[in-house]
Amino acid sequence: MGHSAAVWDHKAAVEVTKDWNGIDQVVLRSPRGSSTRVSLHGGQVISWRNDQGEELLFTSSKAIFKPPKAMRGGIPICFPQFGNRGSLEQHGFARNRVWAIEENPPPLHPNDSKGKSFVDLLLKPSEEDLKCWPHSFEFRLRVSLTSDGDLVLISRVRNINGKPFSFSFAYHSYLLVSDIRYSSCTYKHSVVFSEVRIEGLETLDYLDNLCHKERFTEQGDAITFESEIDRVYLSTPNVIAVLDHERKRTFVIRKEGLPDVVVWNPWEKKSKAMMDFGDEEYKQMACVDGAAIEKPITLKPGEEWTGRLEISVVPSSFCSENLDPSPFLRP
Ligand code: BG6
Repeated sequence: MGHSAAVWDHKAAVEVTKDWNGIDQVVLRSPRGSSTRVSLHGGQVISWRNDQGEELLFTSSKAIFKPPKAMRGGIPICFPQFGNRGSLEQHGFARNRVWAIEENPPPLHPNDSKGKSFVDLLLKPSEEDLKCWPHSFEFRLRVSLTSDGDLVLISRVRNINGKPFSFSFAYHSYLLVSDIRYSSCTYKHSVVFSEVRIEGLETLDYLDNLCHKERFTEQGDAITFESEIDRVYLSTPNVIAVLDHERKRTFVIRKEGLPDVVVWNPWEKKSKAMMDFGDEEYKQMACVDGAAIEKPITLKPGEEWTGRLEISVVPSSFCSENLDPSPFLRP
């Protein structure tokens, strides 16, 4: 745990508390008042607030905060399997395990610590995990909050096995939006749109989970939401934008090592079928996940993989032409 800005008290910036199940949660704060909360259950980010104290991630009012299942919302980690693409439990076991805080992890690049509040978490497989997935690994997750309030997640998976293994991965990010439903109306002779729109995935191929994972090609336009959607977009750019017109803000998702993007909204019927999700709550969320799914990551003994995600929120006048294609090369 740490914070490197000289004038900023790192002890006040990183606080460990217990939830009502006795599991540790870590709260990170930025000098300007943003904060994020990470549960050691799943290594899951369960809250991210801007400097006005407004929540930016969706959490269901019916979420169950009780192990062994992951809480519905925030950013659960899907590892070592995504969805039902394998023999393990849905989305793998990492989101259902209790992680540990690691005080002195192997170092990251100095830029990953500079000016940030952060916590380092570690997951190692239990005896039970090794029975269903017989691969020894160390999974290190650093969650950071920059001084501007951006959320940064860095995952490092190391093979400490004698043999190679493969896995898939996703940061299952539940973004909080005003109203996902696309609608338009005419006001004073001009068309007014209410919409949430994803830019950056136009013209790409995707696997449609609602059509037996069949491959399709996205047509030219940005993605808007009019019905259930459950897709894995392939070979995506490193920067994606999720625009929320009503809130006049844009989530900018920068990623590295994560070629795919999952887009999920359960819409009306599926919402009603999920016991930990309100019937109408699909309107307030969009999952847009940086992921590695189509081509699983393979690690030889001793090798390590890194997958990074940075989410920032900017005013909605921002659009895809402004997106910097080299997300982590900024000073
Ligand atoms: C999405 C999957 O990422 O997660 C969907 O593409 C799935 O198929 C959804 O329904 C939620 O999964 P879970 O296990 O958290 O209910």
